[in-house]
Amino acid sequence: MGKLESRVAVVTGAASGIGEGIAIAFAREGASVVVADRASEADASKVLAAIRSHGVEALFVRTDVSDEDSVNLMAQAAIARFGHVDILVNNAGIFTESLIENMSVTDWDRVVNTNLRGTFLCTRALLNQMLDQGYGRVINIASQLGQIGGASVGHYSASKAGVIGFTKALAREVSRRGVLVNAVAPGPIETPLLLSETEEWRSNKLAELPIGRFGTVDEVTPTVVMLASADGSYYVGQTLGPNGGDVML
Ligand SMILES: NC(=O)c1ccc[n+]([C@@H]2O[C@H](COP(=O)([O-])OP(=O)(O)OC[C@H]3O[C@@H](n4cnc5c(N)ncnc54)[C@H](O)[C@@H]3O)[C@@H](O)[C@H]2O)c1
Repeated sequence: MGKLESRVAVVTGAASGIGEGIAIAFAREGASVVVADRASEADASKVLAAIRSHGVEALFVRTDVSDEDSVNLMAQAAIARFGHVDILVNNAGIFTESLIENMSVTDWDRVVNTNLRGTFLCTRALLNQMLDQGYGRVINIASQLGQIGGASVGHYSASKAGVIGFTKALAREVSRRGVLVNAVAPGPIETPLLLSETEEWRSNKLAELPIGRFGTVDEVTPTVVMLASADGSYYVGQTLGPNGGDVML
């Protein structure tokens, strides 16, 4: 028996990187997975095949997490297909670099609307159904930069700090009704998002990281599986940090 046998999970941003790894790890543990990504179904074909290779179901719903209608349609499609959703991973996120003094409002809005508004919209769209069934797990993918801040990523840092605050507030609202809410704040992980950073940023970050290397997706997914499964049943409003020592609390 897998740790997530017969559970249904929605993973946003699961066509790539950390979300892809989470979706496959969930499938390995027996969960069916809804892949909700703004990328095309063709772009998601690799993760969809990997999920199905574990003998569970995969549903792709093209979704822009920053768009209310798109998110509500995704939630309806997930419930229409599976009848219920047990686990939501708010993972979709974007990253750009700019000093605040040069940052355009468009850039700020794009990052905050994807990372923070998207987390709110997806949670709201699935929360009532979780509360009605008296069971749910919401896992928000934050970032260590939401804890310590990062120069030239003010919008990203603010959005991820917002995700951590949202996690704590929601946990206080719903924990007694069977829905557990937590965050995972990874350090720098080798994904397409990290590759979009400048070489200068990467070498500075490597120099200051206690562990001396970037992490892999497989070093993040076990924490998410733990929180999604019975192993995580006493975690409430926490922010767990697979971060190579970039943050020590
Ligand atoms: N890679 C890192 O170093 C790192 C560190 C800390 C936190 N994170 C967080 O982990 C999450 C995943 O990042 P990643 O490194 O795997 O990035 P990635 O770029 O590899 O994957 C992000 C996925 O999100 C999707 N996406 C982007 N905007 C979307 C939108 N509006 N609606 C739906 N889908 C959207 C993309 O299509 C992509 O499939 C993000 O929230 C990111 O902030 C990453």
